[in-house]
Amino acid sequence: MQWTGLNELREKYLSFFESKGHLRLPSFSLIPKDDNSLLLINSGMAPMKKYFTGEVTPPRKRVTTCQKCIRTGDIENVGKTARHGTYFEMLGNFSFGDYFKHEATAWAWEFCTKVLEMPVDKLWVTIYQDDDEAFEIWTKEVGVAPDRIVRMGKEDNFWEHGSGPCGPCSEIYFDRGEQYGCGKPTCGVGCDCDRYVEFWNVVFSQFDSDGKGNYPPMAHPNIDTGMGLERLACIMQGVDNLFLVDTVQNIMKHICRIAGVTYGEDEKKDVSLRVITDHIRSTTFMIGDGVMPSNEGRGYVLRRLLRRAARHGRLLGIDRPFLSEVAETVIHENLTAYPELDEKRAMILKLIRVEEESFAKTIDQGMQMLNDILDRLDTSVMTGEDAFRLNDTYGFPLDLTKEIAAERGFTIDEEAFREKLQEQKVRARNARKNAGADAWLGESNLLDGVPETQFLGYEELSCRAKILAIVKDGARVDSVTAGDEAVIVCDRTVFYGEGGGQIGDIGTGESEDAMFTVDNTTKNHAKNYLHHISVTAGAVSVGEEVSLSVDAERRAAIMRNHTAAHLLQAALRRVLGDHVEQAGQLVNEKHVRFDFTHFSALTPEEIAQVELLVNQEILKGVEVSCREMPIEEARKLGAMALFGEKYGDIVRVVSVEDFSREFCGGTHISNTAKIGLFKIVSESSVASGVRRIEGVTGLGVLGMLTDATALIGSTAMVMKLNNPADIGVRAAQLMGEIKEKDSAIEALNSRIAGMQMDGLFSEAKEINGVKVITALFSGTEPAALRTMCDRIRDQASEIAAVLACTSGGKGSIAATVGKGAQAKGLHAGQLAKAVAQITGGNGGGKPDFAMAGAKDLTKLDEALAAAETIVADMMKK
Ligand code: ALA
Repeated sequence: MQWTGLNELREKYLSFFESKGHLRLPSFSLIPKDDNSLLLINSGMAPMKKYFTGEVTPPRKRVTTCQKCIRTGDIENVGKTARHGTYFEMLGNFSFGDYFKHEATAWAWEFCTKVLEMPVDKLWVTIYQDDDEAFEIWTKEVGVAPDRIVRMGKEDNFWEHGSGPCGPCSEIYFDRGEQYGCGKPTCGVGCDCDRYVEFWNVVFSQFDSDGKGNYPPMAHPNIDTGMGLERLACIMQGVDNLFLVDTVQNIMKHICRIAGVTYGEDEKKDVSLRVITDHIRSTTFMIGDGVMPSNEGRGYVLRRLLRRAARHGRLLGIDRPFLSEVAETVIHENLTAYPELDEKRAMILKLIRVEEESFAKTIDQGMQMLNDILDRLDTSVMTGEDAFRLNDTYGFPLDLTKEIAAERGFTIDEEAFREKLQEQKVRARNARKNAGADAWLGESNLLDGVPETQFLGYEELSCRAKILAIVKDGARVDSVTAGDEAVIVCDRTVFYGEGGGQIGDIGTGESEDAMFTVDNTTKNHAKNYLHHISVTAGAVSVGEEVSLSVDAERRAAIMRNHTAAHLLQAALRRVLGDHVEQAGQLVNEKHVRFDFTHFSALTPEEIAQVELLVNQEILKGVEVSCREMPIEEARKLGAMALFGEKYGDIVRVVSVEDFSREFCGGTHISNTAKIGLFKIVSESSVASGVRRIEGVTGLGVLGMLTDATALIGSTAMVMKLNNPADIGVRAAQLMGEIKEKDSAIEALNSRIAGMQMDGLFSEAKEINGVKVITALFSGTEPAALRTMCDRIRDQASEIAAVLACTSGGKGSIAATVGKGAQAKGLHAGQLAKAVAQITGGNGGGKPDFAMAGAKDLTKLDEALAAAETIVADMMKK
């Protein structure tokens, strides 16, 4: 076994599994996609849950990855011990309904013993206690000695993490030698000491847990394996813990240089070194994946990690912001596997620097205040109000305060803290309401005197601009800081302000010392462009210069959709007639929604014709021209205006040769070819005489195709078809089979009912010359009772019956009375009602037949038993 660097180990693993037919995928983002059950990706399989369940078809049935993971469950222990960390990479090989236990175990063993050359006598295997199959395979096929296999219970060898795919597992352990052991006679695999390290988990992923204790099996068994890359590196490098692994050690050394300390000399300093080393790794990768510091969700996790690291920098005696320097080393050490870090470098470093600088301004005062509070406390609980003040004024996340207080033996009244936080939110919301937040968006005089914004966004996607005004919570302010939401107005902008059915741009902005996101852009009557921003780091002030950049990809998608909307309108007029006028539209990055005047639903042929016309214009690759001209000229050219809209003397006209010409202030692509393709998704009615078409372009069409293909693929799989083209035939065949089965079931049901009827008559009681039948049918629908009642009345005239049924937790009661029995004073409606009431239910109906609902199903027997007495009483009256 040879010393191997962390980066080399990663590569060895991935190429080994490539040689076994796996597709190597890059690590998924730390931000989970379409999965609300997770804040951050915490294992190799987490981003692939849908491949496991079959909801999405994987690009190949065998996949291998090295996945960035974050687990913050043990964050308080990070630093305190050398075992804990929040960031790690997980190597994994996955089978989605392809290979299973045989191959997964054999390859794991081959990789450890042949590729890494781990000595066999150092390896141990654990299996789930009842998994005899795994035992057989490990011993007979893989060749592991039976006495090297340990059976363990559910807590150790059943893998699950929240909801989703899970199953029994088998783990591989490395024995580091007696010198690491606790020496107890019981010491062995699974012991808490440092001797046996579990490093590879092979999960036989068979169930899809709903997180509530239900484990339905998945359509096909999968393989999910996970090996902590850092843990493997510890074994291969013969070091005790993750902080001594080559690449991680380089990061720590950088911190040691800045702080002028050496690791291993002073336990307190070691704690701080480990905290910073770990947290700078997680935060660098989180920011690289697009997480922004905030007070909620994953943004809070990021902020907490950064501030915790900053505080430990102080404890090491570093009195200046230093984290972004260390982040450089994190990037450097990881470039081979994550080259994208290079592209994100400037953004990552700046965000860390600004966040650290802004915390640096308050950290000393905050620490001072926190220590004063704790000094003065005469109980062991700090008030929620104090914790809130530390958070609000000094930027101490609750968890940081909690941790520092705990170091001195204090706790915090967290509930009171949350109440304060909530009160503050309500205050801010009310302030916005009182100031008429919406009013200043449009018509208020809050921005009076602020000159009109110059819009550069037709040609440019980024520009420098000067901030002229800031509005926060309904009032003008001079500056806003990290965590604030506000509106800023600049002298110029590239952000399109919502209008003409096109949504506003989003993007980012920054100054020397601040970063913010632009979450939306609108306009007011005075042509001020309102950037709705969230400050992510630092402070932004009036008078300052900022750089503004529109989210270019999203904007390009919007432009494709907007130009497509023009082509669509022109095509509709050609296919349906000149009465077609635009009645509203919404153009965003996902689709175009176009409302227009027309009296009836479009036929499939008309839709196909419209699509064809639009796509022909796209394929021609025609230039799109946008020109300002006097309104008269525009009208002469035949440009379409919006009915009822007021225009100025100069208008902007967007033309696609002679095919389409419209008045429009929106942003458009330069050539129709850039739309790619246009596809109508739906056609519907919005109001009388107004139809709506929704369509997609470019990547939207690709997305639709991908979804459709996946749907066809998964449907074919469920139908057990090899060729998806057979779906139609198979579906027709299945429908036929269902129909046949339905009629067979119906026939059986009526036979059963007939048999039950015979039984009923033989058990009937005679009261005053009337045959009285009572019966309870469980698992039967009320409709069946009706049929039975009809038949009972067909049998005799002096007859009465009360039948009850239960199904799906509900109960019903039916009563029927024949003609002769009615003459003797019986009434089905009254009978059903009286019986139902015993169960707390109610109902009623006609003299010959009635239905009622039963409430307390446990009283049904009692109610039916009472039916005979009720019948007897009714006849007496
Ligand atoms: N998903 C398994 C784990 O994280 C492999 O351990």
